[in-house]
Amino acid sequence: MLNKKRIAVVGAGHIGTALMGGLLKAKLLPPSSLMASRRDAAALEELRKSLGVRVETDNRKALRAADILLLCVKPQQAAAVLDEIAPDVREDLLVLSVMAGITTESICKRLGKPVPVVRAMPNTPVLVDEGATALAKGLHAGEEHLKAASAIFGAVGRVEIVAENLMDAVTGLSGSGPVYIYMVIEAMTDGGVKMGIARDVARRLSAQTVFGAAKMVRDTGKHPAILKDEVTTPGGTAIAAVHELESKGLRTVLIDAVVTATQRSRELSEL
Ligand SMILES: NC(=O)c1ccc[n+]([C@@H]2O[C@H](COP(=O)([O-])OP(=O)(O)OC[C@H]3O[C@@H](n4cnc5c(N)ncnc54)[C@H](OP(=O)(O)O)[C@@H]3O)[C@@H](O)[C@H]2O)c1
Repeated sequence: MLNKKRIAVVGAGHIGTALMGGLLKAKLLPPSSLMASRRDAAALEELRKSLGVRVETDNRKALRAADILLLCVKPQQAAAVLDEIAPDVREDLLVLSVMAGITTESICKRLGKPVPVVRAMPNTPVLVDEGATALAKGLHAGEEHLKAASAIFGAVGRVEIVAENLMDAVTGLSGSGPVYIYMVIEAMTDGGVKMGIARDVARRLSAQTVFGAAKMVRDTGKHPAILKDEVTTPGGTAIAAVHELESKGLRTVLIDAVVTATQRSRELSEL
């Protein structure tokens, strides 16, 4: 899918670097097909040394030979960067944006032309190749653009395609979700410590338990409720804990967390 495509990563920070690293590790592209751009020349030089990619401090020059523009600057920088690069954006350039809350329509408007735009909402586990990314295509993007975007984000985790109006909900679920799970791991660790387990041992056991449970849900394809029922022995320990979690409202709290984060994402994109 990405054969011979040239990708310009404008705003090569955490997410941009993780994506380039994933593409190279998966051997989807040679380093010479990747051009990284940001303002900090020393940071770019580090990238050139560590990944072997091409680097450029001038965004306009960076995207001149590109087939795909991966836009990874912060949302606050979106308007300035889009205005700057607009003259060099060809109508066949695929613009792939990870900028939270910036719609495909507003990107097209700012660029002043009907370019294919695909919006992505990844999460930080892309840094360890286990990201969850949702993709939504804009008005002028087609299936081939979604396929190219899926190949890029598939190099650093799993990908789902959604309608663009669900991007705030995705932000509330998987975009912000790692934080909820970090809190679960931290709290389970405290529980282990309270019951006498050394903190480092408790943290490793908690993290691996969350990882293993997630892998069971993902890889078996079984409904989580079935997996739960399979391990709750009558009169046993797990069902005693289930009763405690239900009476304290664990599921309602997590549903509310997703709803509240979704609403906050909507508010922020309207600012
Ligand atoms: N982190 C997440 O979990 C996550 C999840 C979903 C979406 N996102 C989105 O991903 C984007 C990037 O996040 P991040 O965590 O990777 O941020 P980051 O590390 O700060 O990367 C942004 C980069 O943009 C560069 N930059 C700033 N102004 C620029 C300009 N005018 N021209 C070129 N480059 C410029 C900065 O480098 P210089 O200062 O050297 O220019 C910086 O390295 C954001 O839009 C965010 O909404 C992040």
